[in-house]
Amino acid sequence: MFSQENNEKLTRVGPGTPMGNVFRRFWMPFLMPEEVAERDGPPVAVRLLGEDLVAFRDSEGKLGLLDRYCPHRRVDLLLGRNEQCGLRCVYHGWKFDTRGNVVDMPAEPADTPLKDETRIQSYPIVEWGGLVWAYMGEPEHMPTVPPEIEWGLVPPAHRYISKRLQETNYAQGVEGGIDSSHVGILHSLLDEDTSIPFRQRQISPNSRIPYLASDTAPRFFVRHTDYGMAIGARRNAAEDDYYWRVTQFLAPFYTMIAPNQQGGPIMGHAWVPIDDHNCWLFTMTWNAARPLEAHELDHGGVHTRVMDDGSYRPLVNRHNDYKRDRTEQRLRSSTGIEGIGMQDTAVQESMGPIVDRSRETLGSGDAAIVGFRKWLLRSADDLEQGKAPAVAAHPEWYRVRSAAIILGKGTDFQVGAGAALRVD
Ligand code: FES
Ligand SMILES: [Fe+2]
Repeated sequence: MFSQENNEKLTRVGPGTPMGNVFRRFWMPFLMPEEVAERDGPPVAVRLLGEDLVAFRDSEGKLGLLDRYCPHRRVDLLLGRNEQCGLRCVYHGWKFDTRGNVVDMPAEPADTPLKDETRIQSYPIVEWGGLVWAYMGEPEHMPTVPPEIEWGLVPPAHRYISKRLQETNYAQGVEGGIDSSHVGILHSLLDEDTSIPFRQRQISPNSRIPYLASDTAPRFFVRHTDYGMAIGARRNAAEDDYYWRVTQFLAPFYTMIAPNQQGGPIMGHAWVPIDDHNCWLFTMTWNAARPLEAHELDHGGVHTRVMDDGSYRPLVNRHNDYKRDRTEQRLRSSTGIEGIGMQDTAVQESMGPIVDRSRETLGSGDAAIVGFRKWLLRSADDLEQGKAPAVAAHPEWYRVRSAAIILGKGTDFQVGAGAALRVD
């Protein structure tokens, strides 16, 4: 049984927590580039790992991420003025550069030592791979570059990234992302004539993914790797063959789901902790071999439409019952909720912001979830003993992808799909 103590350890991400300390060893994506595109543009409110911060782009194009509150008398710097290479607090005019230095104190004597003595908390921030990333750990442990995940390496036309708010702890999201056994059930459509779930029929001619509906109880094989886990879901295909869907978990919160067809676009996610109860969900679609086509950027599928007020809250959300349609649910789909992405979010949010894992009943299909929890808890324990997660210092270990492949019975999936899983 998963203890409540471990549940706390897994889900608490604020300053000084064991898991928060693990995340502070990694670069983390948190903004879309368009949120801070403008030089001297309005500062942007940021909450990350339970800390309130403010991001801005200065007159020279440099990005800054500072404590949200002025070190003088704690005024909110979101009120601040972004001007001439610094963010100025509007109360007494203290001005900060992107590195956290105080560059002006107009209400103090010109020779005040306070100006050199005072700093505001600032974190390094870079733009890479179509996202803006922050590093919130100790400077001496900062990895040279963000993790070299394939979506960040391909040309911009080969990838599409969307962002949305999910009102759960990050771990609940990751667990949904590596949970292959729900795919043929939660996301199934019903037979148009009979309203019987496809999974109850012999072979589903309408399933978008082969063998998924005809074998809804795949066997799972979890392999621990230097970057996280490779999770093989094995389904029956033909007498001598298995159909393998290989999902990746990349530490500490990235996943990649198998493509519908080998060579087709791959999709991945990042669940970035805002605080214990919320996360940013970034969804990526990419194809290393070619630019994406318009229909591959579908917002009714895994990507989701969001409000245009900067909140990134999905239009369909928990506050409007995910616009669930009971007639649709009776006649055509498992959930009556439109879009795979929001079907996932609905079930994950329905557990509450932090699910009580001590009350679960896990089955054989949950092996990857058990592996994920072990990985993170072990990393937290190791770090408390002074041993940092090795992958944090090896961005190149992230050069892997997911795959969907038919292999002969008796072939190990990591061997048989070896070339398909590697990014060279
Ligand atoms: S509170 Fe910010 S300058 Fe005084
Ligand atoms: Fe799903």
